Amino acid sequence: MNVMITGASRGIGFELVGYFAQIPDCQIIALSRNAQALETLTTFNKTTCIHPVVYDLNCLPEQTGSVIGLLPAGTTHIDVLINNAGVLVNKPFSEISGADAERMFRINSLVPALLIRELLPMMGGSEPTHVVNISSMGGFQGSQKFPGLSYYSASKAALACMTECLQEELKQSGIVFNCLALGAVQTEMLAEAFPGYKASLLPAEMADFIGSFALHAHKYMRGKIIPVSLTTP
Ligand SMILES: NC(=O)c1ccc[n+]([C@@H]2O[C@H](COP(=O)([O-])OP(=O)(O)OC[C@H]3O[C@@H](n4cnc5c(N)ncnc54)[C@H](OP(=O)(O)O)[C@@H]3O)[C@@H](O)[C@H]2O)c1
Repeated sequence: MNVMITGASRGIGFELVGYFAQIPDCQIIALSRNAQALETLTTFNKTTCIHPVVYDLNCLPEQTGSVIGLLPAGTTHIDVLINNAGVLVNKPFSEISGADAERMFRINSLVPALLIRELLPMMGGSEPTHVVNISSMGGFQGSQKFPGLSYYSASKAALACMTECLQEELKQSGIVFNCLALGAVQTEMLAEAFPGYKASLLPAEMADFIGSFALHAHKYMRGKIIPVSLTTP
């Protein structure tokens, strides 16, 4: 089984690699910009094949081919793709720079779509592929909203909507798209955005849920946006 995880250098993505490293015969393609952090992933389990891909998702071009060229030789099919990489800048709406706003929309909503498009020839067909897009409760319709997170939440809402759209447009492809809208998890992203706040969930706990969902949920649901939160929206 081939599993690709973006944002694997820290937080939830790092722990997701640990989750899939427990599964025999699993090849994990772990993507981030941080070569050193990706190298530490190989300590998870010596018998599992972890393939680090050092890549800046900002470089994902309009033309296809740049990520496929970095995959391990002989990889012909992706069974699970977890679009986990994300960016959060917590600032009042009127103070956020255009560059930060663009970066959030690019990494949080456009890049997952570009990556899916790039990997289309390696997904679905006779073997199913489950694409799990990681969104946020902030981008879940009707949820409580927080000052400082307007662009972040809107970019995550766009990812959720993209999930529904792709499920409809590609329903004959053998690819199943679902989206998880996460509540607070105690990661560096959360600590940087909300210093002092303590979330009830650890990244490894959330990774257990996401990993199990990625392995099994495509048999039960398609094109769904699921809140994964201990609080009421
Ligand atoms: N933590 C929470 O409370 C929470 C709540 C709701 C949703 N989420 C979502 O869950 C996901 C994981 O969150 P987290 O808290 O684990 O975040 P994190 O600790 O900040 O990790 C983010 C990951 O994204 C990668 N990334 C960012 N920009 C990238 C780029 N240009 N190219 C490649 N990789 C890039 C980072 O890798 P490098 O910097 O090494 O490239 C890093 O591995 C995110 O999508 C986040 O929005 C988190």
